[in-house]
Amino acid sequence: MDKFLIRGGQPLRGRIEISGAKNSALPCLAAALLTPETVILHNVPYVKDLITQRRLLEDLGATVLTPELRTHKITANHVEVFEAPYELVKTMRASVLALGPLLARFGQAKVSLPGGCAIGTRPIDLHLKAFEQLGATVSLESGDVIARAPASGRLIGNEFEFEKVTVTGTENVMMAASLAKGKTVIRNAAMEPEIEDLAALLNKMGARIKGAGTPVIEIDGVEQLGGAEHTIIPDRIETGTFAVAAAITGGELEIKNCNPAHLTAVIEKLREAGVIVDELNQSTLHVRGTGDLLARDVTTEPHPKFPTDMQAQYMVLMTQAQGTCTVTETIFENRFMHVGELIRMGADIHISGNHAVVTGPRQLTGAKVIASDLRASASLVLAGLCANGETLIDRVYHIDRGYEAIVRKLRSVGAMIDRIKENLPETVSAES
Ligand code: EPZ
Repeated sequence: MDKFLIRGGQPLRGRIEISGAKNSALPCLAAALLTPETVILHNVPYVKDLITQRRLLEDLGATVLTPELRTHKITANHVEVFEAPYELVKTMRASVLALGPLLARFGQAKVSLPGGCAIGTRPIDLHLKAFEQLGATVSLESGDVIARAPASGRLIGNEFEFEKVTVTGTENVMMAASLAKGKTVIRNAAMEPEIEDLAALLNKMGARIKGAGTPVIEIDGVEQLGGAEHTIIPDRIETGTFAVAAAITGGELEIKNCNPAHLTAVIEKLREAGVIVDELNQSTLHVRGTGDLLARDVTTEPHPKFPTDMQAQYMVLMTQAQGTCTVTETIFENRFMHVGELIRMGADIHISGNHAVVTGPRQLTGAKVIASDLRASASLVLAGLCANGETLIDRVYHIDRGYEAIVRKLRSVGAMIDRIKENLPETVSAES
């Protein structure tokens, strides 16, 4: 298993380019299953989770060509298998996004029920209830979800309200309802930018979706969908992560190919905490760390509020801030796995329920730490960048799932970080 070796204390300076959004590319690839025609997606991030999603589509019988690394040409005109197997789902729960498209187009789908993951139990009960609202029968057999459309073979539009905001639940149902008979109205829908991006693709494919990005989404089902060409939005969480990297190292970064409008809550909170954040234009942020960070409370909530996927990165920033603040996690019940590792590096953090009380500033010291999930690993990289000495992060396969070429990007702005392949000697140099 690869490791990252980081020597901290270097202010980051320069320009960083943001990749496409993992959490938009995943449902957009699944959406290609809704049509036999070719869907072309540009700006697909080159990360592990997209490689897994591509493999799922190919296992189902779709062809996926990549004329360029970040362009996927998907044609699902020979889908003969309607199953997302345990082997794939256990590595990436987002495989459940195949459920809606398969059920809507082929009238049947079998998807291994995802188990829990490091950050929580993460059930998909709301997805399944919603499919039942569209007339499907759903059963659980030996760990697999079996979903079948009514005898007509087509789902039936309906009006319902999600008990809780769910991002992939909204995406799954939006895709399924696009081919349903009649109108579907989803209330208490998730409003993340990735939902709007998926709706934009589906509407290019001939769907009739209104209200994506608001709590009420209306979908007039159509008989069939066609091919389309679409460019995936920038990754707002990668953008936020690099903004924190500039702030925590007292550096200065120009973050290109991002979309500041997708992370207003993060930008506002960073400014409140004393970070200089300028929107140079609609796709460029300029972030400067002043070294005078102020402790400010934060609570994670669904979009457009502060995203849970930025909680760990923000918490490590608060270990360097003047004063005490509380970080409250309301989305996932077990998303403080990074805290123990940060404490090993010298942070002052106390957990009580879903609140973490952070007192700073505390000088962090390099240590051997273990990554537990995607965003926790990003927070450990940020901790290593501002710590005294060397930090060795194990299990960085977690970060490869969602950050494209993070070592290359960070080194390009002066970070002293190396990827250590298991059998290579451990050396640190910014040059190599
Ligand atoms: C999406 O996960 C993202 N993943 C997550 O990003 C992100 O943390 C999350 O939304 C919240 O913003 C992708 O888009 C692929 P939810 P998702 O359904 O859709 C509960 C990352 O780091 N719930 O919105 O799985 C659930 O347990 C990842 O990139 C049910 O109870 O999250 C959670 O507490 C991590 N039943 C809450 O709702 C359901 O059927 C929100 O989950 C569905 C969800």
